Amino acid sequence: MGKITVITGGTSGIGRGIAEKILAESAKEDRIFVTYGHDEKKAAVFRDSLPEEKKSQVILMKADMSSYNEMMAFVEELKKRADHIDWLVSNAGISTYAKYEDYGFEEWTRIVNTNLSVPVFMVKELRPMMVEGGSVLFTGSYAGQQAYSSSLVYGVTKAAIHFLTKSLVKEFEPKGITVNAIAPGFIETPWHSARTQESYDRINRKIALHRFGTVEEVADMAYAVLSNGYMNGSVVDIHGGYDYF
Ligand SMILES: NC(=O)c1ccc[n+]([C@@H]2O[C@H](COP(=O)([O-])OP(=O)(O)OC[C@H]3O[C@@H](n4cnc5c(N)ncnc54)[C@H](OP(=O)(O)O)[C@@H]3O)[C@@H](O)[C@H]2O)c1
Repeated sequence: MGKITVITGGTSGIGRGIAEKILAESAKEDRIFVTYGHDEKKAAVFRDSLPEEKKSQVILMKADMSSYNEMMAFVEELKKRADHIDWLVSNAGISTYAKYEDYGFEEWTRIVNTNLSVPVFMVKELRPMMVEGGSVLFTGSYAGQQAYSSSLVYGVTKAAIHFLTKSLVKEFEPKGITVNAIAPGFIETPWHSARTQESYDRINRKIALHRFGTVEEVADMAYAVLSNGYMNGSVVDIHGGYDYF
């Protein structure tokens, strides 16, 4: 039986890095279901970039994870195409540059739904498909550990994801499935494409290693967490020493 991984938001940035790492380490019979929300072009670029001999192992699926109904439709489709799940990586997430005083309830709700509420229900729906000894990994954020984020709603959702990670351990205990999260600091992904050099310089001054992390550094750590049989309920920071000096 091949190993099956499901990863949301796997066509870009950190999710793509994790998908590529899992694929690189995979056996021929393994499969990876990679979801994305909107960007067909990026999804095509990701698919085209895969090594020819591994392309058939990756199944791309479009599902807007800000919507409960779309998530449920994705779950139904997945049930038809996969008979079990070994690794479940809930990675898709969004933020906003809006200031607290400018928040509207709708925008707050869209971000909470995408980063927290929909993942909660997706994991609940997929739990019965997970095998004994499987692994669930959330992409949290260091912005959910320290209240540094310029986005209040983002930090709040990521802090909730960290608490969810610990809380779900009990729910997965009967099948010996581990539940962990990674909490990256500033990682060089398309997420930061609008950032000015001044903004990079300001942030780099606060990081002891004076640079953003790479997707590969995060993906290697995510893979280590996913494949470690004894880590459970852990939230693992990776931020280059942000605000430590
Ligand atoms: N980059 C950082 O510095 C950093 C630091 C800490 C944590 N993180 C976390 O890491 C995760 C990935 O971030 P990233 O920097 O890799 O971002 P990214 O490069 O923008 O990638 C985001 C991925 O999520 C998907 N996505 C976005 N909205 C979605 C939706 N509504 N439904 C389904 N998929 C959706 C995107 O697909 P589409 O574009 O097709 O929708 C894309 O595949 C997020 O949870 C983020 O909070 C990032």
